[in-house]
Amino acid sequence: MNKRWLKETLKAFENCGYTFGDTVKSVGQRFGISQKQILKLDSNENFFIPKENLQKILFEVVREIDPRIYPQEEEQELRERISAYVKSPRECIALGNGSDEIMERITRTFLREGDQAITVQPTFSMYKHAVKLQRAELIEVPLREDFSLDTEAILSKTTRRTKILFLCSPNNPTGNQFALEDIKNLLENFPGIIVIDEAYAEFARSSVASLCEDFDNLIVLRTFSKAFGLAGLRLGYCISNERVTTILARNVGLPYPVNLIALKSGVKILENMELVEDAIQRLIKERTRLIEELNKVTGVKAFDSKANFVMFTTEKSMEKVYQALLRRGIIVKKLGEILKLKNCFRTTVGLPEMGDRLIDVLKAINAG
Ligand SMILES: Cc1ncc(COP(=O)(O)O)c(C=O)c1O
Repeated sequence: MNKRWLKETLKAFENCGYTFGDTVKSVGQRFGISQKQILKLDSNENFFIPKENLQKILFEVVREIDPRIYPQEEEQELRERISAYVKSPRECIALGNGSDEIMERITRTFLREGDQAITVQPTFSMYKHAVKLQRAELIEVPLREDFSLDTEAILSKTTRRTKILFLCSPNNPTGNQFALEDIKNLLENFPGIIVIDEAYAEFARSSVASLCEDFDNLIVLRTFSKAFGLAGLRLGYCISNERVTTILARNVGLPYPVNLIALKSGVKILENMELVEDAIQRLIKERTRLIEELNKVTGVKAFDSKANFVMFTTEKSMEKVYQALLRRGIIVKKLGEILKLKNCFRTTVGLPEMGDRLIDVLKAINAG
């Protein structure tokens, strides 16, 4: 075996990959805090849908399924349910093992070595990862200071090698949704595929999915991980035109990307929309309160958000604040410097008592 080739190949992959944050277990052990006391607010998960309701759905699913059989009919059924939910034809929907997995299928389809993809900065880190895996180049165009899209700058970066534009709306981590006119402008003028990741669309109460009828270069990514509270089941989907979704589902994907339990749970949670809707309403109310309260803490500035997380900055250094939060059992996401803003963090909008704890600790850190 050519060992040099092997070493170089392994080395190329060693710098790829998603960077995971601190875990509840590791923080508990390091600071001697019981795991139950730790608040994990760094992954934009949904605490508003009671765990017991989701467990009830799962028990029902487990009673109904035959795990010996490959899930084919269930895939069709879920696509039909999603179709009714998003008001797009069933043929225009493809399912995935989380929306991240569909993103990876998209880059495998549309990017070759040496091609170029564009995204904005800051945004969700997985686009970089998916592009890198294809050995393609990613251009990152900064957002404007008000976090809006700089469409001129994006379009000016396109070349013959440009194949994909990744946008996340509402954007992770800034929390804002991009203007419809800007998106339409890009759909009309960008030379390749535009992927709009709407992981948080339910919390913004608006989506661009209907534009798939008019633009054949649009793919909208959606997930059950956020508004539906099913992050652990890994279930996502995309909406596009029939040709693209068929290629992504049948030609690029593996035969059964989503397991039976996730497929059936997706159907059942869509039958329980009042549960989801109630959780969204309570989350939006708490988001408003959290932003207001964070802004009352001296040295903290929180930004508006259309998602289930809030970005904030601190006057004190990021590392000091992060460690002080960890010591008190709170895990948030460190973002570093964003555009011209120093010491940036992102926190999930948790239940009101979680928000209260975060605010109290930030006040104490600031006073100390
Ligand atoms: C913008 C964005 N897209 C996608 C995901 C992941 O979605 P999924 O769990 O469906 O892979 C996340 C998770 O945090 C996200 O922030």
